[in-house]
Amino acid sequence: MDSPVPEGPVRLLGINDLPACQRLAEDRGWEREDRKWRFLFSVGDVYGIDDGNGELAGTVISTPYGKDVAAISMVLVAKRYERRGLGGRLMRHAMDNTDTASLCLTATDYGRPLYERLGFRSVGLCTAYKGVAEGLSKRGVTVPVEASDMPAVHALDTEVSGADRSELVKRLPSFCESFRVVRDGPGIAGFGGAWKNEDWFLVGPVIAQDTETALALVDEVVPPGQVRLDIDHRHPELIAWAEAHGLRPAFTTTVMEYGAPLTGDPSRLYLPVAQALG
Ligand SMILES: CC(C)(COP(=O)(O)OP(=O)(O)OC[C@H]1O[C@@H](n2cnc3c(N)ncnc32)[C@H](O)[C@@H]1OP(=O)(O)O)[C@@H](O)C(=O)NCCC(=O)NCCS
Repeated sequence: MDSPVPEGPVRLLGINDLPACQRLAEDRGWEREDRKWRFLFSVGDVYGIDDGNGELAGTVISTPYGKDVAAISMVLVAKRYERRGLGGRLMRHAMDNTDTASLCLTATDYGRPLYERLGFRSVGLCTAYKGVAEGLSKRGVTVPVEASDMPAVHALDTEVSGADRSELVKRLPSFCESFRVVRDGPGIAGFGGAWKNEDWFLVGPVIAQDTETALALVDEVVPPGQVRLDIDHRHPELIAWAEAHGLRPAFTTTVMEYGAPLTGDPSRLYLPVAQALG
């Protein structure tokens, strides 16, 4: 017999709920992603519904960047409750409690029909490339970030993302294992990072004035070992880089937006911090 659908409220979760979030993720075949969840708890609003037996029936995270845009992520419903309206309830709660002009997310095939029904538009595709990168050329173009670079990092991020992501940006140097910039006179021509998630490194963010700078950053922030790059298809030059360095496509998601069209300049947003954050 089906478990009765939990009818309790959607509540704001705290870091003490992290183990239950991870059990829910594992229930859907996702990894525990401890560092990613902790980072999302530090910058976003994590919501969930209790199942009444000490576990979570579902979660959703909204990470607002000022009043401009919020990134929606970790939309998860326990398998035993799927297709009974909880995903829709969680999404509507996050949307009603997020006061930004636009929302963005990347959708799996499970989630896309749900988001379409809620009014999200598909604006592109993103493919995760994974593997051990070979033949990197460290060109000495980039340098490790210093505190004095951060105003320029924030300014470039704001210009390109079209949003004030200061709470996110200020945490990047400590969150990333490697966070480097390309200096250009008093400012910077780009910045890039890579951070550890489970037993692999996620490469991102990479934001740069041009493709040459972006590829130099990728070359110099990619660490030895297993890496993953989440590449928006509007950047074929990064797909070519991934294939030339021995990475393989693992899965593809749909990039979606809701509300006002996003401002900013996606052509210079080469890699997101994470799909969960844009
Ligand atoms: C995506 C996910 C969160 C959806 O959660 P959910 O609770 O099943 O979502 P809902 O029940 O609100 O909606 C799902 C479908 O069930 C249908 N549905 C909702 N209530 C229903 C009911 N009482 N009876 C029958 N169908 C129902 C909806 O119409 C919807 O149909 P559609 O997908 O064909 O449009 C869930 O499948 C999941 O966790 N998947 C794995 C993780 C994942 O991929 N997350 C998305 C990341 S972007």
